[in-house]
Amino acid sequence: MIYQLSQFLFPDDPARLFPETPGRELYLEIGFGDGRFWPHHARTFAEPPNYLGAEISGSSLQKAQARLLKSGLTNAHLTKLPAMVLLGAVVPAGSLSGIIVNFPDPWPKKDHLDQRLLRAPFFRLAASRLKPGGAVLLTTDHEEYFDFACQEAEESGVTRLERAEPPAAALETKYALKWRELGIAAQHARFVSTADPFALAARLPRPDIQALPQEDADLPHSIVKLPAGFDLSDFAKQAVRGDTYTVVLLDAYRSLRRPEYTVLAHVEEGELTQEVLVGVMQRPDGSTLVRLAKFGGPIITAGVKAAVGAVTDELVRRGAVVTHLGY
Ligand SMILES: C[S@@+](CC[C@H](N)C(=O)[O-])C[C@H]1O[C@@H](n2cnc3c(N)ncnc32)[C@H](O)[C@@H]1O
Repeated sequence: MIYQLSQFLFPDDPARLFPETPGRELYLEIGFGDGRFWPHHARTFAEPPNYLGAEISGSSLQKAQARLLKSGLTNAHLTKLPAMVLLGAVVPAGSLSGIIVNFPDPWPKKDHLDQRLLRAPFFRLAASRLKPGGAVLLTTDHEEYFDFACQEAEESGVTRLERAEPPAAALETKYALKWRELGIAAQHARFVSTADPFALAARLPRPDIQALPQEDADLPHSIVKLPAGFDLSDFAKQAVRGDTYTVVLLDAYRSLRRPEYTVLAHVEEGELTQEVLVGVMQRPDGSTLVRLAKFGGPIITAGVKAAVGAVTDELVRRGAVVTHLGY
């Protein structure tokens, strides 16, 4: 099944995610591409472990979902999320038996090295989410990235390198076949965690993310009093930057029926991006409610709260008086 970010809890409980197979081992695959690895690999276990897959390409997600459905594996969830977000916000400490990374994007240019996934911060986060003895399993054709990953893992101080043959299924992925045809061999490493995951997790910042609350009153909001003749028709795009986020208020849309508005905001927090809507709505007592809309299933982060704040600030610049802040 495909999971949206808003369907997870932060952190989530594997027993909730896999209610039919709650006690099984849990594996995460990062960048599963068209999803060939897991249906092959799962067959090498007597009982297929539970599986989470993270991928940022929407078209790959669809292809992988079709393969999973064909394979009949029901204890496998895919999500269109960057790996660091899934690992950092959703996966609980000490819960994974393995993290599989097959043929990661190599980002070969010198000034793109910081785009690489397998850097020391990744290995530290991974070790906090792996069970003791669990491992990151890397298979790649790219020698230079392989050496880079080994160095970064060592620098992280929380892994032990084991060289081994890649799992057979890792040599049957789309990219494995592509490089094999060109005669390029794959290399494999197991970065076994040597850390106490709970002690390590306690030292790492966990992103402050909340699921959508059940009650509308608990959504980030403010209440303001607008001046007479208030109008947003000359609204201009604007950006607000905080320590952990950038919010861009892109545009404001007016209701056809009432003098009410919806503001579209783009929120970036590291690898996590969301487009959210903030409503500016009349209340029966004549005041105005500025509130995050539930549309699109946003999750509530510091950046999303800041988007509600940025809309409120814009109204204040136009003469509104704040009577309540709820974000
Ligand atoms: C070179 S492809 C390999 C795909 C597949 N593993 C294979 O062997 O055929 C790398 C994949 O990683 C995905 N990817 C890149 N960065 C990612 C990230 N931060 N989180 C999840 N997936 C990512 C890309 O979208 C792409 O599908």
